[in-house]
Amino acid sequence: MSFAERESILILDFGSQYTQLIARRIREAGVYSEIVPFNVPYEEVVSRHPVGIVLSGGPSSVFAEGAPRADSRVLEFSGPILGICYGMQWMIQTLGGDVRPSSQREYGRTEVEVVEGSELFRDIPRQTVVWMSHGDRIERLPDGFRVVARSTTTVAAVEHNEKRRYGIQFHPEVAHTEKGRELLRNFLFRICGCQGGWSAASFISEAVEAVRRQVGSGSAVCGLSGGVDSTVAALLVQRAIGDRLTCLFVDNGLLRKNEFNEVLELCREHLHLNVRGVDASQRFLRRLRDVEDPEQKRKIIGEEFIRVFEEEASRLGPVDFLVQGTLYPDVIESVSVRGPSAVIKSHHNVGGLPERMRLTLIEPLRELFKDEVRKVGRELGLPEPFVTRQPFPGPGLAVRIIGAVTEDRLHVLREADAVVQQEIRAAGLYEDIWQSFAVLLPIRSVGVMGDSRTYESVVAVRAVESLDGMTADWVRLPYDVLTRISSRIVNEVQGVNRVVYDVSSKPPSTIEWE
Ligand code: XMP
Repeated sequence: MSFAERESILILDFGSQYTQLIARRIREAGVYSEIVPFNVPYEEVVSRHPVGIVLSGGPSSVFAEGAPRADSRVLEFSGPILGICYGMQWMIQTLGGDVRPSSQREYGRTEVEVVEGSELFRDIPRQTVVWMSHGDRIERLPDGFRVVARSTTTVAAVEHNEKRRYGIQFHPEVAHTEKGRELLRNFLFRICGCQGGWSAASFISEAVEAVRRQVGSGSAVCGLSGGVDSTVAALLVQRAIGDRLTCLFVDNGLLRKNEFNEVLELCREHLHLNVRGVDASQRFLRRLRDVEDPEQKRKIIGEEFIRVFEEEASRLGPVDFLVQGTLYPDVIESVSVRGPSAVIKSHHNVGGLPERMRLTLIEPLRELFKDEVRKVGRELGLPEPFVTRQPFPGPGLAVRIIGAVTEDRLHVLREADAVVQQEIRAAGLYEDIWQSFAVLLPIRSVGVMGDSRTYESVVAVRAVESLDGMTADWVRLPYDVLTRISSRIVNEVQGVNRVVYDVSSKPPSTIEWE
């Protein structure tokens, strides 16, 4: 099915932190959805042929100077529109209603009463708990609209039945809204008339077909990172073009304990990918010698990767395409995801490669969220422990060794990190945690072992929970897990006599230490 034929819901993003969650909830219901910035021209909205539109929430008040305003012609769209919070305020105001700043702001858990039957609330109890988050309230509705749900202080939902315009003051996409999924399903299936059926499995056949068409009789190369995204991208392309895909897995010397061999073996023996392992560790370590500055480290690693990749790829003979595991959050020009943290660290990527090598990009995952990539991975036979792997940064252990990177320090960190991984897995916590790892600090501290004084390195342990890596909170690990991690590191890893736990959140800290 081509892009235009596919049943989809278009989400206009007014900057809510939940916009991506709306898209994911809709997809979970089996309907493809995509996010565009609030200010796309109406022509573009129409050209995507959505079956319905969702106007997201946003942090602004409609009264704020510079409050985001969509092209008002969006409201002339022939299909249904659902406005959520700010999206509803903007719709009501633009259609001639009266919205006022409220003296009583409503945030969080609120009970609402559905005052009259409405398709949106079909099969939802009269009293239901929702998650509110807005300060403006509706004073007067535009012609043809009626109130369909109220809280004790405010209008909670409105609709214009004939025009199929719906507005809700709360967030159906968050788990705290008890019947949020049902409400979204009502919008999709009863109001928009969606068929559903979009899934990871249906995505695979579509994606494989698209790659086949794109590549024709050409050949492709893919850089494996050892992570889920590049591996799933490679598997999809392999399904499409078989061994005309060659994968390169570069050992930059900054991988975790046994990682290079384990990933190579998995890819070769289990996944039957056509993969070449390239041991370039000495090249990277030579260039990193005495480099302490975090940004400098990232730059060197990025550049060196491109060099190694280019050299290796040129040995393969003529290649036309480069496969990358780019995901949807990197593609969306979303107001909310382009937070300031995106530019705080220069992330390692292979941005310069396609132009330099005159390769055309293949990005088979560019429409998917991370959880969807995992589903696709499972469908394609990726073993569960690999599917649920925590993210690992491109510059690897280099950004977890504070100060200069040496073989000795890498060895210490690898051993300490392996203990963290083992204990977190043994405690059954690995899959609930976004990332958990060790960091080697550039200081030594005094300790005592047996009868003698020691003066050795300090390891910091970091474990965070996060939805997308943009914000994160430190995990309240059970004391007994921390105790085991600490005593095992100090006893088993030579050169470490102290372990500390990082209790900072992002922001203001970042997840990685460098
Ligand atoms: P920070 O440290 O910025 O990290 O809070 C956010 C997420 O991004 C990962 N990260 C990277 N990933 N190349 C990557 O591929 C990088 O240079 C890089 N730096 C950080 C980090 O592990 C976390 O998941």
